[in-house]
Amino acid sequence: MTTMTAEATAGAVDVEAVGLEAVTRTYGEVRALDGVTRTFPRGSFTAVMGPSGSGKSTFLHCASGLDRPSGGTVRVGGTDLGRLSETKRTLLRRERIGFVFQAFNLIPSMDVEQNITLPLRLGGVDADPGWLDDVVRRVGLGDRLRHRPSELSGGQQQRAAVARALITRPEVVFADEPTGALDPRSSRDVLRMLRDAADLTGQTVVLVTHDPMAAAWADSVVFLSRGRIVDELVAPTVSAVMGRWESL
Ligand SMILES: Nc1ncnc2c1ncn2[C@@H]1O[C@H](COP(=O)(O)OP(=O)(O)O)[C@@H](O)[C@H]1O
Ligand SMILES: [Mg+2]
Repeated sequence: MTTMTAEATAGAVDVEAVGLEAVTRTYGEVRALDGVTRTFPRGSFTAVMGPSGSGKSTFLHCASGLDRPSGGTVRVGGTDLGRLSETKRTLLRRERIGFVFQAFNLIPSMDVEQNITLPLRLGGVDADPGWLDDVVRRVGLGDRLRHRPSELSGGQQQRAAVARALITRPEVVFADEPTGALDPRSSRDVLRMLRDAADLTGQTVVLVTHDPMAAAWADSVVFLSRGRIVDELVAPTVSAVMGRWESL
């Protein structure tokens, strides 16, 4: 790659997708987030690691507009979430953000296709058949569309959940320990999909995980401890992540 291309690429990814400034979140006496400031560039894939109780989920909920911080500012695509009404924040979440959870959270009574297209129906939008096919192909569930979640393996359920997160073409995908309940092979499938979302469609991915192997798929790893960012690793390898993890 020439220097010019590298610079052009760096310039292109430097647009902020999500920005947090001095974000705090307290629950009574507990400071779950204690002044977090970080920019997540468009098209980047960031892992967030930290011990249990360090504030990872709280961070993700605040950054995605699921929860309101007690202080500080959160921006998604340049919009200050704190200035939005509850309704507008819900709409922004529905249209611009995708979520993947550890427990899949599929609707048991719906088949795979209905689960995947649910966010579109909630938004009153018809599925663009080309895009639905594309997403279904990416997650490899073409022959499972009429199955219920209970008829799928954990890996297949999580792939359906990733498809559901991608179907609205969100700018940002937040995943909270999405591989926590999966075997290594299924974990790789899910991580590959998140990596592709960043690389192929320029989406911004924020992955909360405690697995160094998962974190090594990211462009950078942010380490949380007691609600603060205490370290960061760029171009992580599994062993580098483990090294930092030990010293937390
Ligand atoms: N809804 C809540 N009510 C009270 N305390 C909470 C709530 N959510 C999180 N906490 C507390 O905030 C801290 C961070 O929690 P959390 O963000 O879930 O951490 P992690 O995801 O890293 O395990 C913990 O001390 C937790 O007990
Ligand atoms: Mg958590």
